[in-house]
Amino acid sequence: MNVLVIGNGGREHAILLALKKSKRVEKLYCMKGNAGTAEIAENVDVDYMNTAAVKEFALAHPEIDYYVVTPDDPLAAGLVDELESIGKRCFGPNKRAAIIEASKAYAKQLMKKYKIPTAEYETFESYEKALEYVRKKGAPIVLKADGLALGKGVLVCETLEQAEDGLKEIMLGKAFGAAGNKIVIEECMRGLKYTPGEEVSVLAFTDGKTIVPMITSCDHKRAFDGDEGLNTGGMGTFSPCPFWNKKLEKQVLKKIMVPTIKALNKEGRTFKGCLYFGLMRTDKGIKVVEYNSRFGDPETQVVLPMLKTDLMDIFEAVTEERLKDVKIEWEDGACVCVVLASGGYPLSYEKGKEITIGDTSGATVIHAGTAVKDGKLVTNGGRVFGVVAKGKTVDEAREKAYSAAENIGWEGVHYRTDIGIKYRQG
Ligand code: AMP
Ligand code: GLY
Repeated sequence: MNVLVIGNGGREHAILLALKKSKRVEKLYCMKGNAGTAEIAENVDVDYMNTAAVKEFALAHPEIDYYVVTPDDPLAAGLVDELESIGKRCFGPNKRAAIIEASKAYAKQLMKKYKIPTAEYETFESYEKALEYVRKKGAPIVLKADGLALGKGVLVCETLEQAEDGLKEIMLGKAFGAAGNKIVIEECMRGLKYTPGEEVSVLAFTDGKTIVPMITSCDHKRAFDGDEGLNTGGMGTFSPCPFWNKKLEKQVLKKIMVPTIKALNKEGRTFKGCLYFGLMRTDKGIKVVEYNSRFGDPETQVVLPMLKTDLMDIFEAVTEERLKDVKIEWEDGACVCVVLASGGYPLSYEKGKEITIGDTSGATVIHAGTAVKDGKLVTNGGRVFGVVAKGKTVDEAREKAYSAAENIGWEGVHYRTDIGIKYRQG
């Protein structure tokens, strides 16, 4: 089979590396891809947000048998529906199902209606009413822009002043553009002893009938060590989550995962693809922080390397709604991904910096924001690489990942030095 993966980042490179191991995949393509994907796939220079152009490309390339649509924006725009309308087979939810990520207000209302545990909330379109509610509830409180905002549309406010400022920025200043026309205001969930709740990302394959959680991972969202600085798309991940166990998995399947796919079916929004559950262990039990309609980035970079089963077999089983017949197996041990970012990220940063790579043996260097210019490897995004290593334990994996990461450099590179440590302290 010939397979095309849509997207440009580390997640897409990780998916391509997993598909490359498949016995059934002959040729891989990536639209648009980066310098790393170009090493294992043919990069296709078509803008995937231009649906007409993607369809035109697909019609002109009947030799491509299967499309994997991964980023949130083409999913929300209905690219899967468009490709299916011309007879192409795809992995990824259709537009109706992708709303579970595209609108936080929709996701919250679904959870409320079907009693899926999540933080209490209200939705507002009026700034004055939102302000009144924030003043009534007090801090800490969480503000969320309704729409897609590159993973940055959430403000956890510790004081009322922060909340009032945040509300102004999102609703009046349009800090996240139109995504902030509607706002979700949530209770701030806490862990035991009023510490921040502990989080876990659980990706799951689902064909709308069966849902199978993958191995778990934890993301480090803040820019700097010790969880300081701004929220980013994710500065590193490790797998597995230290507080996860079979009992918790059973509970999450029963109370959260199965009710979610049943709820979506009832609403006429059957979800087929990878459904991402961002969960938090709180003083009142495990709750949903967010849903994503896709593989997480950089969660995928630590999850897929541990997959023993052929990923293409799973993708096709999801498309053909026979996931229950596939046995999905994982390696034992741990995996760590350290993200190397451009100076300034997540705020503004320069592109086009020349990269030098030394000895990275013992790790896999996943490309995110890279390109080749005039024959040289250069930076081309905020998150530039994910350096991934496996080990018997998280400690062993992180040591290998950091030894390799130290040998990659460019002007301004920055990365966290505490990936994989967070939960062992608490
Ligand atoms: P999200 O983009 O929805 O995952 O939110 C980004 C981060 O904000 C999460 O990973 C949490 O750390 C934090 N967060 C979101 N919602 C809440 C909440 N209701 N209570 C506490 N922290 C939250
Ligand atoms: N790492 C979080 C996300 O993919 O949304």
